[in-house]
Amino acid sequence: MMQEKSSTLNIPLEELKLVGITGSTTSTSEAPLILVEGMEREVREEDVVLIENLNGGLILAVCRGGLGIDDNLRVGSYSPGIAYVRSTGKSPSRAKESYHFMLSFIGAVADGRVKPNDVIVAPGSRVYAFRGTSHNPLQYLKTEKTLLAGYLVREPSWDIPFDAAFIPYHIGVFGATGSGKSYLTRHLLIPVLLKAGYGVLDLDWAGVDYAPYFEESQVIPISEVESSPEAFLSYLMDRTRNFGYRGETSTLSMALEEVLSEHWQSLVKEASTPSELLEKLKDLVNERLKGQPKEGDQKSKHWIDLASMRLERGLSKLPLEEVETFMGKVGIKDLIPRQGEVSVVDMHRASDVAKLTFFLTLSNELLTRMYRGEMLNLALVIDEAPQYCPHEPRGVQVETTDRIKDLCALGRKHRLCVVLISQGIAGEIGINAAIRRNLNTQFIGQIHPLDLEEAGKRLSPYGIKPESLLYLEPGQFYFVGKMNPSPTPLLISFQVAS
Ligand SMILES: Nc1ncnc2c1ncn2[C@@H]1O[C@H](COP(=O)(O)OP(=O)(O)OP(=O)(O)O)[C@@H](O)[C@H]1O
Ligand SMILES: [Mg+2]
Repeated sequence: MMQEKSSTLNIPLEELKLVGITGSTTSTSEAPLILVEGMEREVREEDVVLIENLNGGLILAVCRGGLGIDDNLRVGSYSPGIAYVRSTGKSPSRAKESYHFMLSFIGAVADGRVKPNDVIVAPGSRVYAFRGTSHNPLQYLKTEKTLLAGYLVREPSWDIPFDAAFIPYHIGVFGATGSGKSYLTRHLLIPVLLKAGYGVLDLDWAGVDYAPYFEESQVIPISEVESSPEAFLSYLMDRTRNFGYRGETSTLSMALEEVLSEHWQSLVKEASTPSELLEKLKDLVNERLKGQPKEGDQKSKHWIDLASMRLERGLSKLPLEEVETFMGKVGIKDLIPRQGEVSVVDMHRASDVAKLTFFLTLSNELLTRMYRGEMLNLALVIDEAPQYCPHEPRGVQVETTDRIKDLCALGRKHRLCVVLISQGIAGEIGINAAIRRNLNTQFIGQIHPLDLEEAGKRLSPYGIKPESLLYLEPGQFYFVGKMNPSPTPLLISFQVAS
């Protein structure tokens, strides 16, 4: 019976090791595992095992929530066992000792494929381990659209399948500082995205996580990229705090907007230094302001002189090296990589506001293409995501957060994948809740204790204790969500290519 089953299903049960029996109470998605004596030293958390369901079928599952129990040593009240320990300093009989795991199901294996399991597992079913055999059960999770990368932490020879169909459903990478997020992105995610036929545009906030690791021809300093008049205007208004005006719009801001939209290109082309650019801009705006009052209107002349003075004062305070980052000549269009290629924007020289205004220009271009109906085949990798879309956006962040929301919403239909990388998941250290909901695949590494609750919401249903996330090593991540063909998260890692 067992022989026949194993040959049709292609699983060599005879090569696997019996490690235990399912206990009570079981369901269609989980079952307790009682370990055969001695197996507690071999079977570990996150091991993948096979259940030979007495109710029919074979089920792949992951071991979680290990427990060791001994009734003789139960604490909290008096027992003869406890009294024995106290008087002799030795442990009593081990007859009442047992070890358990909770098995979280990957699915039922049938015809070489994994399908959702809908049969209740019979208590008393045998459970086998794969470790130590040449058999890789993750192969049953493969479909036509899966790519292989990384490995299972408990079995480094098993590649992890990634379902490429769900790439444009967006990706989140979460973990405290030093948990390996940028490494995961460089060594695992970017190669998977390239293999799936996407171009990768990586925004390197500090210029240290990506730029130094790619060829010079793939890296573009932000100062060389062209800016839009809107981006420069947002920068000016933010940096000068609206030139001292309270309301959103003032005569000055309207004049600036008009001048920039008409003359921005020629200003950048003709000015050879940032101070020359500001000087020319000042003259043009002053001209525009002076053209406004009707003759003899003393009151408005006073306002114009004030605006002119505020303009002069505001512009003179701008750091010239920041203004220079807006004077690039490389077109935004030329920045966007072709399929299978990577471009990294090194943003380290620009101020935070300049980086965010650059992002507005870039997202405008991507959104315009999508409105036109283009398929982008592009992954936009945004490290330090809370800089762009924090819990409570302020200033330019209000716009960047909105733009990311739009990119996510349109991206699904136009093959744009947004990858957001953040130290925190939710709350003050995390990313905006409206955007988080769009990240259908997540990699969760060692987290900050403040994120225990949020991580728990995602992982506890599968028997993963959120506390265990505090102890993950750098480079270890739970792979959760749409791109994971297994419904239960898998603990994965990756090789760091030298
Ligand atoms: N798969 C891995 N194997 C071994 N070491 C790794 C692996 N992944 C990451 N590391 C180690 O972890 C360190 C931190 O990684 P990384 O810079 O990616 O962290 P991070 O999460 O991006 O941190 P930050 O939030 O500060 O940017 C690396 O310098 C590297 O030594
Ligand atoms: Mg990093």
